Amino acid sequence: MSPELHSGEPEQRAIILVISPSVCDPGRTFANMISNNDERRDPHDLQSIHNPACGPDKLFLQDVPVHAPGPDEVLVKIRAVSLNYRDIHFLNGISPTKRENEPHLIPVSDMAGEIVALGSGVSSWHIGARVIATFNPNWQAGDIPSEADISWVLGGDFGGCLVQYRLYKTNALVEIPASLSFEEASTLPIAGMTVHEILFGGARKLQAGDYVVWPGTGGVSLLGAQITLGAGATPIVTSSSDEKLELARKLGVEYTVNYKKNPDWYKEVLDITKGKGAEHVVDCTGMTGIHNSIKAARVGGQVHILGLLGDQQNPEQATLAAQIMFRKLTVRGIIIGPKTQCEATVRVVETTKVKPFVSKVYPFEEAKDALKFLEGHGHVGKIVITVCKD
Ligand SMILES: NC(=O)c1ccc[n+]([C@@H]2O[C@H](COP(=O)([O-])OP(=O)(O)OC[C@H]3O[C@@H](n4cnc5c(N)ncnc54)[C@H](OP(=O)(O)O)[C@@H]3O)[C@@H](O)[C@H]2O)c1
Repeated sequence: MSPELHSGEPEQRAIILVISPSVCDPGRTFANMISNNDERRDPHDLQSIHNPACGPDKLFLQDVPVHAPGPDEVLVKIRAVSLNYRDIHFLNGISPTKRENEPHLIPVSDMAGEIVALGSGVSSWHIGARVIATFNPNWQAGDIPSEADISWVLGGDFGGCLVQYRLYKTNALVEIPASLSFEEASTLPIAGMTVHEILFGGARKLQAGDYVVWPGTGGVSLLGAQITLGAGATPIVTSSSDEKLELARKLGVEYTVNYKKNPDWYKEVLDITKGKGAEHVVDCTGMTGIHNSIKAARVGGQVHILGLLGDQQNPEQATLAAQIMFRKLTVRGIIIGPKTQCEATVRVVETTKVKPFVSKVYPFEEAKDALKFLEGHGHVGKIVITVCKD
């Protein structure tokens, strides 16, 4: 179908979700899980947040008007959408939506399509451009997003992409390479960007020769394994299913581990990496399987907290995982390093002109008192014993 933009408002087909008018229970939102303390948010903050009515049964197909693009907008003919588990969260009312006074929502965030009409004055795009849309249209740049940047998402607060034609702001779109089909490109907004953030967004960027453990054989992990291979590194894919692991091997993954059959699967990773461990380990268990992920990582490696898929018996664990995930925290073990680090430390102290704070100096003969004082935790800063005066 091609919309006749000049003759009124032509119809198109959209998959629509009925939104329940009930106010969301703040206890059920992810926002609640990532707040800095355990207190529930003021429910008044959430008055405009609605839970979608439960379940895909509330979806229906409907003809809706196609609108012509306004200034700074383009009309995109959506050629493919890819699905993510968050789409299910919206359908099942686990993720809330801030859409006020609107009974309906078009779900699904990730699409690829082509621009079929430009708003007046739009010069940054051309008709026929092949595009995907960013997941958080408001987050244009920068490492630390504002609340506004990330709290409005496609297929949740903004209408989604399960529709034949959709208007987008010009700055919400990214051109896709000719090498990708629309179906392939539609996987990039969430799964692709997630993989990119894991492999290239942290302190240790992926390097050729690295090992990366990908949990399960879902959308993020298999794309992650493919990009790992493409970058000259080695993916290790885990799964509950030997059949799914066979499929991963067909994609070129040499090392696979069945995490159901091997509850201590980190041992397999250590074998594969000759005892060293993997440079990157991705964990989607919401802390329930974190012990395996930590033990599978090499010294100086990174464990990436990605999801909350484990059997969440303990809400505190899930909350911890959500805090690390949504606040993009790096939880990093500290142990002092080699001589080069010692030299670097001296240089830093010299250049910063810092005089290390010593709160108490004991003579050598009173060393015992010094140790007892330390034991009693009454001190601040450092306690020093002068051993030889001259
Ligand atoms: N933080 C973010 O920005 C972000 C972005 C995207 C996705 N995610 C999260 O990342 C996770 C994966 O996303 P996805 O889109 O790839 O989901 P998906 O396509 O639904 O795949 C999920 C896979 O995870 C595996 N899995 C389930 N429980 C597991 C466990 N206890 N240990 C290891 N693997 C397990 C399963 O693999 P097998 O069937 O092979 O066992 C399942 O197929 C989800 O939790 C999602 O919410 C987070």
